[in-house]
Amino acid sequence: MARKKQKKAKAASKKRARKVVKLAARKPAAKKANGNGHLPRPSSKPFGQDGKALTGVRILDFTHVQSGPTCTQLLAWMGADVIKVERPGVGDITRGQLVDVKGADSLYFTMLNHNKRSITIDSKHPQGKRVLDELIKKCDVLVENFAPGALDRMGLTWEHINKLNPRMIVASVKGFGPGPYEDCKVYENVAQCAGGSASTTGFREGPPLVTGAQIGDSGTGLHLALGIVCALYQRNRTGRGQKVLAAMQDGVLNLCRVKLRDQQRLKAGPLTEYSQYGEGVAFGAAVPRAGNDSGGGQPGWILKCKGWETDPDAYIYFITQAPVWQAICDLIGEPTWKTDPEYATPRARLPKLKQIFGRIEQWTMTMTKFEVMEKCNAVDIPVGPILSMKEIAEEPSLRKTGTVVEVDHPTRGKYLTVGNPIKMSDSISEVKRSPLLGEHTDEILTDVLGLKAAVVNEIKNSGALSAPKKEEKAA
Ligand code: COA
Repeated sequence: MARKKQKKAKAASKKRARKVVKLAARKPAAKKANGNGHLPRPSSKPFGQDGKALTGVRILDFTHVQSGPTCTQLLAWMGADVIKVERPGVGDITRGQLVDVKGADSLYFTMLNHNKRSITIDSKHPQGKRVLDELIKKCDVLVENFAPGALDRMGLTWEHINKLNPRMIVASVKGFGPGPYEDCKVYENVAQCAGGSASTTGFREGPPLVTGAQIGDSGTGLHLALGIVCALYQRNRTGRGQKVLAAMQDGVLNLCRVKLRDQQRLKAGPLTEYSQYGEGVAFGAAVPRAGNDSGGGQPGWILKCKGWETDPDAYIYFITQAPVWQAICDLIGEPTWKTDPEYATPRARLPKLKQIFGRIEQWTMTMTKFEVMEKCNAVDIPVGPILSMKEIAEEPSLRKTGTVVEVDHPTRGKYLTVGNPIKMSDSISEVKRSPLLGEHTDEILTDVLGLKAAVVNEIKNSGALSAPKKEEKAA
């Protein structure tokens, strides 16, 4: 009986094996609307020499300040033709903010507007509106981050745009999504506060803190860029555009996801990985500020290194990752901690983190942050030197990868910028200087709209592309 069963099972498994072979040998499935069957043959050109990821995509860039320009700069680095529409005479307000070289565009502007073309159009002038309508017909995406309602007040409502060009994607950054605050104007730190970052940043004893990383502006610009690229992909299937909204509050909250995690964990008891647990300080109703606690399952803290008395950045972030605990004990000269039940397990260490980091700090203070890094990395202990902006600007490896780039500019000369942080093997970014105000006005009217020189002159004479004259302004 048993043998019969075995035989049957063997036969079934043989059949299965045959089936696998058969499946693999089948002819490819019929072309699906959205499957690989749609793709052209793999390019035979060398990688990096067959255009860029967004070659052929044209963006009407109505962005200003930081959040929107971050998004369109990324899209430009990916190969999109980004046409920045600016108010005649003034341009993006950041051109004249935090000026360090008199008469030249500020670094604030130049560092957020690489690889774009600039056209000046008064969007409230009747002729200016007509030019914008024509550009809408020729572009794939309109990106804006005006105050709520400003685009509608220009007459560029979704309905208007969608009627002119049903394929156009209209992408916006706003401070808040629909709700009680939707009409508010928002800047970086407002978003950091409203998105949960400030309440969870800083030290327990101190006030909420904003962070230097521009998670509200640049972070939301990044979110918007992803939305745009996905909408472009969807358009390949549906043939139509859509609205894309990235609210700064939402973007910041997305980056603070782990803090909403902790908010819910509070119900189950104290957050044992926070050093306040080890210090015997009770938790309140909301996630507290965690100082330099790591926020993950591996405790960490910022420790002093040699020279900390005079160098504000002579510090290192040290993570006591459980698998390398033994190596840490050997390095710092506490070999007994490897087996001592008071220290040997992560659970035993949790209530003593302050004391443990104090002991590790005695060791890190005997060396520079780079020496600590060398010693720790040799035994796989994750550490992070606190790098100053000066050190980052001078770091040769970042220059080599194009993450820090030197750019030449006609009115300000050479300056450093941050290049595309996303590296692609078949879409290589080159960083080109930001445009001067209205530098490409003629070129865009001629090349993109195909207008004749006489028509361009007519539009110019109408005043739609230039700042109102002083007396008009005063009137
Ligand atoms: N021609 C004519 N008018 C133009 C123009 C052009 N080319 N470009 C802009 N304008 C006008 C707008 O139509 C608007 O006029 P209106 O209010 O009369 O309708 C005006 O310029 C100012 O726009 P606004 O966006 O309100 O600028 P602001 O300097 O007052 O506010 C922000 C700046 C950033 C607070 C606001 O734009 C905002 O909240 N944006 C959304 C959130 C955001 O991105 N914030 C982060 C910025 S880094």
